[in-house]
Amino acid sequence: MPENTLTITDNRTGKTYTVPIEDGTIRAMTLRQIKTGPEDFGLMTFDPAFMNTASCRSSITFIDGDLGILRYRGYPIEVLAERCTYLEVAYLLFFGELPTAAELKNWVHDITHHTMLHETTKKYMEGFRYDSHPMVMFVSTIAALSSVYPDARQVHDAENRLLQIKRLLGKAPSIAAMSYRHNVGFPYVYPDNDLSYTENFMNMLWRMVEPKYVANPVLSKALDILFILHADHEQNCGTNAMRVIGSSQADPYSALAGAAAALYGPLHGAANEAVLRMLEQIGSPANVPGFLRRVKAGEERLMGFGHRVYKNYDPRCRIIKRTADEVFQVTPRNPLLDVALELERIALQDEYFISRKLYPNVDFYSGLIYRAMNLPASMFTVMFAVPRTCGWVAQWMELVADQEQKISRPRQIYIGSPTRDYLPMAAREAAPAAVGA
Ligand SMILES: CC(C)(COP(=O)(O)OP(=O)(O)OC[C@H]1O[C@@H](n2cnc3c(N)ncnc32)[C@H](O)[C@@H]1OP(=O)(O)O)[C@@H](O)C(=O)NCCC(=O)NCCS
Repeated sequence: MPENTLTITDNRTGKTYTVPIEDGTIRAMTLRQIKTGPEDFGLMTFDPAFMNTASCRSSITFIDGDLGILRYRGYPIEVLAERCTYLEVAYLLFFGELPTAAELKNWVHDITHHTMLHETTKKYMEGFRYDSHPMVMFVSTIAALSSVYPDARQVHDAENRLLQIKRLLGKAPSIAAMSYRHNVGFPYVYPDNDLSYTENFMNMLWRMVEPKYVANPVLSKALDILFILHADHEQNCGTNAMRVIGSSQADPYSALAGAAAALYGPLHGAANEAVLRMLEQIGSPANVPGFLRRVKAGEERLMGFGHRVYKNYDPRCRIIKRTADEVFQVTPRNPLLDVALELERIALQDEYFISRKLYPNVDFYSGLIYRAMNLPASMFTVMFAVPRTCGWVAQWMELVADQEQKISRPRQIYIGSPTRDYLPMAAREAAPAAVGA
C-alpha cells in the first residue's frame, strides 16, 4: 500500500477505497466514487463555513495560527513592517519577490500616476446621502469603476490585468478619502504626486486650505505599517469572496467590491469599529471586570478578541501595540487605551479566554490609532479596505492564472420538502413564518 494514501472502508457496503493524500489533504472529488449503488450520487464532504477545506493552492501568504506566525511570500511580517514600505510589500505580494531599486521606482511611479479619478466618479459620490456609511460609499464606488474601465473585463489578458491592478491600488485611497470628505462635507482633494502613498492619502483626507499638505512623519509611518499589516491574510472571508466572484470571470472592480462588502461585516473588518464602540460603552478600567462577566455569561462579545485561524497572539497585534505607543507620543493620549490595556490584562489571565485560546487580534488596537488620527469609527473599516486591496488583487491574479480553478460552486444537502402538488391560492394556509410565529 503506498505510504501517502488513506484507506476508507464504507461500512454500508463493506467496500474499501484507497485515496491519495497530497499536501496533507485528500481531494473531495475522490470521495464521489464511494457509492451504495449505481443510483447513489456518491459521497460528499459537509463543511459549513469552510472550517477544514482548502479551496486553492496559494504561494502568497502563510499563517500558522497555533504559533502566531504570519509571512508574506516567505518573509516574516515583523521584518516587512520594520524594513519595507507598503508599496514595496504590495510589489512583493503581486510578483513574489521584493523589488530592486529600479523596479520599485517604476512601480511607485505607476501607482502614483493612477491615483486620479475620472470626474464622473466624483458625481457618483455626490449622489450619496450626506450621512451614508463611508464603507457603503467605498464598496459602491469601487463597483462603479467597472463602468469607467469596461476594458477590465478582459481578465485573460495579462497586460490588461496589470493595468487594472495599478488602477485599483492607485484609486482605492482616493475613493476612501472622498467617502470621508463626503461625510464631513468638505470638498474632495485631488491627489498630489509629490507625496508618498500614505502621505498622499493623508493629504486627500485632511488637507484644508494650505497650499501644500505636510504629513506628520510619525503618523504617515504608522499608517504605512498598518497598511503592511493589513495587506493580505490568505483565505479570509473577504478574500474568499474576491476569489468566488473572480471565478466567474467578472472584472476585478466588481469582484473587489464584493470582497470589500464582505469586509464590512462586524465579524470581519468592521470589528475595529465595534472595538471602539465597545471601549466607549465600557467607559473606564473600573468597569472592565463587570463587562467581562457579561461576556462570559454570553450576553456580550469581546470584540477584537478571537480569530478563526490564530489560536495564539495575533503577530500583527504586537506590532500595532508598539505603533500605537509611537502615535500616542505625537497625539493626545486616548483614555480608552487604558480600558483596552485593562481588558487585555484581565482577559489573558481568565480561564474562559485561556481555554478557548482567545487572544487580541489585529482589530483590538488599530481603532485606537485611527481615533488618535481623528478619524470617526465609521472610517475604520475603510482604513482596512484600502491596504487589503493589494491582497485581494494579488489573490485574484493567482486565481486567474491557476489552471486547477473553475467557477466556484459548492454543493448542498437539501433539507427541504420532497416533491409536492401545486396548491391553488384558495386552498393555501398562511405559513407560520409569514405571520411571525
Ligand atoms: C473572529 C471570530 C468570528 C472567530 O469565530 P470562530 O472561529 O467561529 O470561533 P467560535 O465562534 O467557534 O468561538 C469558539 C468559542 O469562543 C467563544 N468566543 C469566540 N470569540 C469570542 C469573543 N470575541 N468574545 C467572547 N467569546 C468568544 C465562542 O463563544 C465559543 O465559545 P463556546 O465554545 O463556549 O461556544 C470570533 O472570535 C469573534 O466573533 N470575535 C470578535 C469579532 C472580531 O474581533 N473579529 C475580527 C477578526 S480579525
